[in-house]
Amino acid sequence: MASKFQAPRGTFDVLPEAARGRARVEATAAGILARAGYEPIQTPSFEDTDLFVRGVGRSTDIVSKEMFTFEDKGERSLTLRPEGTAPICRAYLEHGMHKLAQPVKLSYVGPFFRHERPQAGRYRQFHQIGLECIGTDSPLADAEAIMLLSDLLGELGVPGVELRLGSLGSLGARVAYLEELKAHLHAHEGELSEDVRERIDLNPLRAFDSDHEGTQAVMASAPTIVERLEGEDAEHFAEVRAQLDAAGIAYAIDPTLVRGIDYYTRTIFSFVCDALGAQSEVGGGGRYDGLIEQLGGPATPAVGWAVGIERILLALGEDFEGTPRAQRVFISFDHEGEDGRRALVLASELRRAGFAAEFDLAGRAAKGQLKHANRIGADFVVFLSVEGGPALRDMRSGEQRPVDLGNLVDEMTGGEA
Ligand code: HAM
Repeated sequence: MASKFQAPRGTFDVLPEAARGRARVEATAAGILARAGYEPIQTPSFEDTDLFVRGVGRSTDIVSKEMFTFEDKGERSLTLRPEGTAPICRAYLEHGMHKLAQPVKLSYVGPFFRHERPQAGRYRQFHQIGLECIGTDSPLADAEAIMLLSDLLGELGVPGVELRLGSLGSLGARVAYLEELKAHLHAHEGELSEDVRERIDLNPLRAFDSDHEGTQAVMASAPTIVERLEGEDAEHFAEVRAQLDAAGIAYAIDPTLVRGIDYYTRTIFSFVCDALGAQSEVGGGGRYDGLIEQLGGPATPAVGWAVGIERILLALGEDFEGTPRAQRVFISFDHEGEDGRRALVLASELRRAGFAAEFDLAGRAAKGQLKHANRIGADFVVFLSVEGGPALRDMRSGEQRPVDLGNLVDEMTGGEA
């Protein structure tokens, strides 16, 4: 039945079949992150707009073009969260987590919102799984974070994944490099896209991300920050690389790697997947040593990442098996008598024993119930209201036999329950 209403552009419904795939992705991540000591956190779906303006950066595409911003009835400007790191840093400060033992290791999963041009792998409401490790500048935290994302993609079996690694240096050390880069861009202004030209002084690093041919040619001869790293920044990056090498995690150094958010310092990384086409990044992140201070807190180094659930599912393709279903039992009974009550109680017992159990709620006659059991893919049907006492039918073999309800579970599992 068509209605004039549809899910808004760039959004989608998750129907039950698809929900099982998502559930498996989320459960796999929850297991991996919990075993590494990450604890889940949930923050609201919207925040003060200023949190993102300050945190993500005014000159980024996210803040300048992509936020769903609205005014509430008290004329406060609020924004549907486009990303999760700034909100988690807000929560870290708001709840005094800097007084806890450091680092504080948090994980999250949930919806995010960006007003982007929709295409495969790019939506206006999408879902991320992420982690933030706040309160340490140890390169081991970077390497471990990368390892956890690599483990997640590996355990799910995401094919053709490649890790790109870069470093942006610390904020202070970046100043001289940015001047050098701006000078290079100004020297080639005429060859740059309008977008990049307008942002030379505001956000010169983004020029590396441009898909404009002229700009790309200019960037091919641009100085890169990886070549300019020195002192502690260079040591930090070397240490992260050595740790990844020791862990056997393959990566390619990408000196032109930049990310679309301003808070990054030092390590940045991106997991790309060739199955994804244009939106090739499945997940990524990096270190953001200046963000908490930027939000008004004490100087607090941190590192984290987020991965797009839709992109994982897209890369895994249609054959990806979701969370396995429990064995399904349909309890058939005669609506004329009082067997509905027995069905209710039996269903509850079976569910406690780990089965998925259902019974008819639509007043169907026996034949209709069997048809329905078939339609929902029941593995077994228990007939309560048949002559000679309850019977069990194995829907795969079609074999039916009388059953003592006290032995029902054993009968269905072959005694292996
Ligand atoms: P991000 O790179 O903006 O980083 O997003 C992370 C992931 O979210 C992307 O790799 C992609 O899989 C997914 N994603 C982003 N936009 C869309 C979209 N429009 N449609 C579908 N999927 C999308 C962050 O958000 C940072 N907060 C990551 C981070 C955490 N850095 C440090 N800690």
